[in-house]
Amino acid sequence: MDPENIHDRMISSGSFFGRFSIIRKFFSIVFDYKNPILNQKVLGMDFINPIGLSAGFDKNAELTELLPSIGFGFIEIGSVTAEYCAGNPKPRLWRMQLSESLIVYYGLKNDGAEKIAKRLENKKHHIPLGINIAMTNCQNNLDINNAIEDFKKAFDIMKSHADYITINISCPNALGGQPFIKPENLENLLNILDKVETDKPRFIKLSPDLQKEEIDIILNILKNHKIQGIICSNLTKNRDNKKIHQNENNITDKGGISGKVVRDLSDDLLKYIYQREGKRFVLIGVGGIFEAKDVYKKIRNGASLVQLITGMIFEGPSLISNLNQDLAYMLKKDGFKNIKEAIGIDANRD
Ligand SMILES: Cc1cc2nc3c(=O)[nH]c(=O)nc-3n(C[C@H](O)[C@H](O)[C@H](O)COP(=O)(O)O)c2cc1C
Repeated sequence: MDPENIHDRMISSGSFFGRFSIIRKFFSIVFDYKNPILNQKVLGMDFINPIGLSAGFDKNAELTELLPSIGFGFIEIGSVTAEYCAGNPKPRLWRMQLSESLIVYYGLKNDGAEKIAKRLENKKHHIPLGINIAMTNCQNNLDINNAIEDFKKAFDIMKSHADYITINISCPNALGGQPFIKPENLENLLNILDKVETDKPRFIKLSPDLQKEEIDIILNILKNHKIQGIICSNLTKNRDNKKIHQNENNITDKGGISGKVVRDLSDDLLKYIYQREGKRFVLIGVGGIFEAKDVYKKIRNGASLVQLITGMIFEGPSLISNLNQDLAYMLKKDGFKNIKEAIGIDANRD
């Protein structure tokens, strides 16, 4: 079956089941795992555990009722764009079974900010909800001033529904590429977004394909703006990657790759930023989490929180509680009383 069809069916059944408190309760009994060693406050938000759902799985905020009951500590919806976007032509999602990864070429398909904001209206969530915003994938936004206005519109509409906002400048599949990697464009974008009135924490999501010099320039810009955190990382576009299994080299040259193919790149970006900036930014590590040791590595390299999608697609929803359980065991075994004590402990050990 087309993986996108499977994804869509999961979303509609999850959205249906999520409406019933008895089903949510049942999922909680089966999947939920709690341990105070995993609790922490980050940027004023309370996290019962560090495992979050990454942007792209629940693009339209249809699962916000169900997802907390499978054990997530937080969820990020989106990417949400100011206008409705149908996305790129199909097919646009491929499984790389041997490489334990996905190729994603959705192109920011989503219902648009107004509809998604309406869906979130009056909904209470018991875990932090991040909203990932991006520029609408359309011809009009090839003009950078339009793209900035469009970004601001999404921010304005979504800000009151989020506990934190992620500014996604690293979608590998939009028309015109990633214009906000260019320093002057990023500076102009952040100048405008700084003026959006909200005290919600702001994260920026980076590409794992950035060169060190590009990362340095971006970090220097971020320090002068209202950005409290960085998400490391989005999908990789680079096909020159040893983690791609030889039989899966030629599936398509479109799209960005998730899962085990992107893991080391994400880890390197995270560690580099933590080594350079210490605790200046809150870091969220994402890319290729399949086991608790993957989570623990990201935390010890500087991540306060982590996110995932691909691991859950390959391993099923029980992965979340298994990760939390095993992580709590590892922290305790290493003598930590709380997860906070482990953050960044390995970043400067080479
Ligand atoms: C199906 C799919 C759709 C995605 N869509 C988005 C998106 O809309 N916005 C975004 O910031 N990241 C998106 N991503 C990237 C993920 O949020 C994440 O950064 C990346 O997949 C690495 O994590 P993983 O290996 O655990 O999947 C998507 C990933 C997948 C697999």
